[in-house]
Amino acid sequence: LMLQVARCTKIINPNTDDAKYMINVKQIAKFVVGLGDKVSPTDIEEGMRVGVDRNKYQIQIPLPPKIDPSVTMMTVEEKPDVTYNDVGGCKEQIEKMREVVELPMLHPEKFVKLGIDPPKGVLCYGPPGTGKTLLARAVANRTDACFIRVIGSELVQKYVGEGARMVRELFQMARSKKACIIFFDEVDAIGGARFDDGAGGDNEVQRTMLEIVNQLDGFDARGNIKVLMATNRPDTLDPALLRPGRLDRKVEFGLPDLEGRTQIFKIHTRTMNCERDIRFELLARLCPNATGADIRSVCTEAGMYAIRARRKTVTEKDFLDSVNKVIKGYQKFSATPKYMVYN
Ligand SMILES: *[C@@H]1O[C@H](CO)[C@@H](O)[C@H](O)[C@H]1NC(C)=O
Ligand SMILES: *[C@@H]1O[C@H](CO)[C@@H](O)[C@H](O)[C@H]1NC(C)=O
Repeated sequence: LMLQVARCTKIINPNTDDAKYMINVKQIAKFVVGLGDKVSPTDIEEGMRVGVDRNKYQIQIPLPPKIDPSVTMMTVEEKPDVTYNDVGGCKEQIEKMREVVELPMLHPEKFVKLGIDPPKGVLCYGPPGTGKTLLARAVANRTDACFIRVIGSELVQKYVGEGARMVRELFQMARSKKACIIFFDEVDAIGGARFDDGAGGDNEVQRTMLEIVNQLDGFDARGNIKVLMATNRPDTLDPALLRPGRLDRKVEFGLPDLEGRTQIFKIHTRTMNCERDIRFELLARLCPNATGADIRSVCTEAGMYAIRARRKTVTEKDFLDSVNKVIKGYQKFSATPKYMVYN
């Protein structure tokens, strides 16, 4: 369940069965909503920050009051619902992440016995759409950890002058959880190698980045917070982030191979109503350089073909048509070749 941060500005008919909650999302939109199944009316007070779902904006969790109300750049998932089985074409990456993130979180005693510190953080790098976020959420699911995702570019663009404070509050929130995985996406926006533009414009970004380093240094490697960072520009990162004791490990995400792509097709069609015996391997062969995200688009588009033809099942021909449309169309826009250049 993806949550968005909102503020409950007013409770209408409090203490009755008809209670409704007026919420304010990003200071723009106002809604009158109800409570999710797991929230009790006694948990919610006026003025409180709350997490709401993105469909009905029902209140799903109360959020701690100390965090700034403007912290909306993060998604908080108390229980991410993605498992390793939902991550296709990343066999090696799954193994590595289990070793460096899952094992220390589930079995810290093994590290204590050996007298070594497990990694505090992992840098995940590779082209967009290759499963970095998905796998991070799956690790959180497996370790029963809260998953917090922050997008680097938003942190520096939307919160000018407040980036460092946001980072502090973010870690504070993470420490309030039983276990937590913090995922900094597009970290190159904050952690890009430092340069001086002479105008002081980058100082703000640097302060944010230094605060991240500070926070990384400040928590216990054997604790239950892990920090994952993702980028498609690993070459541009500030070496300070990558020193031992910070982002110790690096896991590369690449384009899935044939087997991986076939598996991704199977994952995305699991819940679709498809005709039998679709040759997923053939489809995978037709998308040689596709990412997982591309393949998901192919599946969605195949479904659209079926809908347009007023059919209830998706046929292999729908998939073939969709491959033609989506993959050919993407070749014009794909970010993948750009990434290849940087490597
Ligand atoms: C992990 O995901 C599965 C599948 O969606 C879900 O049933 C399970 O409750 C999740 N586990 C945790 C600890 O969040
Ligand atoms: C796939 O990528 C490789 C390497 O970038 C390139 O040489 C090849 O032409 C691409 N194939 C297709 C079908 O786009």
